[in-house]
Amino acid sequence: MNISVVGTGYVGLVTGVALSHIGHQITCIDIDESKVLRMRQGISPIFEPGLEELMIKNIEAGRLFFTTNHREGFKGKDVIYIAVGTPEKEDGSANLTFIEKVIEDIASNVENDIIVVTKSTVPVGTNHYIKGLLKASMPSDLKIEVVSNPEFLREGSSVYDTFNGDRIVIGADNEEAAKVIEEINKPFGVPIYKTDIKSAEMIKYASNAFLATKISFVNEIANICEKLGADVESVACGMGMDKRVGSMFLNAGIGYGGSCFPKDTKALTQIAANIDHDFELLKAVITVNNNQQQRLIEKATERFGSLVGKRVAILGLSFKPNTDDMREAASIITSKQLIANGTHVIAYDPIAIENARRILPSEVKYAQSFEEAITEADMVFLLTDWAEFKDVNLNVYVEKMNQPVIFDGRNCYDLDYVKNYSIEYHSIGRNV
Ligand code: UGA
Repeated sequence: MNISVVGTGYVGLVTGVALSHIGHQITCIDIDESKVLRMRQGISPIFEPGLEELMIKNIEAGRLFFTTNHREGFKGKDVIYIAVGTPEKEDGSANLTFIEKVIEDIASNVENDIIVVTKSTVPVGTNHYIKGLLKASMPSDLKIEVVSNPEFLREGSSVYDTFNGDRIVIGADNEEAAKVIEEINKPFGVPIYKTDIKSAEMIKYASNAFLATKISFVNEIANICEKLGADVESVACGMGMDKRVGSMFLNAGIGYGGSCFPKDTKALTQIAANIDHDFELLKAVITVNNNQQQRLIEKATERFGSLVGKRVAILGLSFKPNTDDMREAASIITSKQLIANGTHVIAYDPIAIENARRILPSEVKYAQSFEEAITEADMVFLLTDWAEFKDVNLNVYVEKMNQPVIFDGRNCYDLDYVKNYSIEYHSIGRNV
């Protein structure tokens, strides 16, 4: 099919590339000219394993195009995917300005029947609002349908997830439009679940909120385990063996970050508040996460009393491994607090340093390598479980640091393994 995708952030670009890979003719539209020029050459603006290879393949096959021109991008298309951002407003609700701009662009450039598919995460009711706007501003003889098709990809493994997802959700109030989107997606070989528009919109928020709840729950269990001498990893393992609980997303740590869970949990409490529903459970999940992001600072303060003048190495800056995304990463609050506590912070990340420089306090220094970061450090804060840190020979900490004290926010090392080294090791919810 002939499809255009508006917005080439992580959702839009991966969607466009993946759809071209299963044979559709795709034009990706973005307002950023320099980004479009680079993408035309097969250069991905985001770090996403496997994405550039697929981009290059499909550009060369003549199925994948990039433009800044909406008229050109929409020409001859049957379907338009909206994948622009819905950033957080001050009150936590979703800002729909970018979506509204796309609607204007569609209305002023499209002259044929069209199905508009919303990939962006939008509050329940937004797709009906979009349809209303389009109907009001486009010629009445055109057939305009709107379909909700929320995204469930994880950053850092989105190419894998596209072809191995658990489900594709299609929310439509029109059977024919649902069928078209179903046919587009069939080649992915992923189970398709069709429902109405509002339920599809809610599935997205409810799924992210539930996963965030699992994480905050296990983090609270971890904090209790620490006090009682139990081990959260054994607890999570024993819980996860019950299929009703499920073993995934029970890794305790310094909380969730990223562009999705923090934003979507807040947005859902706001959606509920708008209908006078106090979503107390989800509010607690958010509070637990905010506190959890500060756990390592608490532990370090308990251990050292004052942190003034200490040299602290932060290992891992992105919100999780295999991405350079710094949004809501634990490194932000941690580095701010460390600086406020009078420490010298030297940070290292395999790929996120460039982004980190724009976000972290200016006092933070950056190392070119893991070894450089830990050299002469008084303590290490491990914030992201990159393989590079997990696979290291622990002797390096003993050899390079002033004193080998590790505060591990991602439980990267096996406790029995650590015991073989003269390292003072603090982790989350485990019995050391
Ligand atoms: C999340 C969802 O997993 C995707 O299904 C969804 O499509 C996406 O949000 C989105 O809404 O776009 P993502 O934010 O890329 O994906 O990352 P996750 O792998 O889910 O991790 C989120 C955060 O939770 C990370 O900071 C991670 O370290 C943390 N986490 C995850 C834990 O602390 N413990 C766990 O057990 C799992």
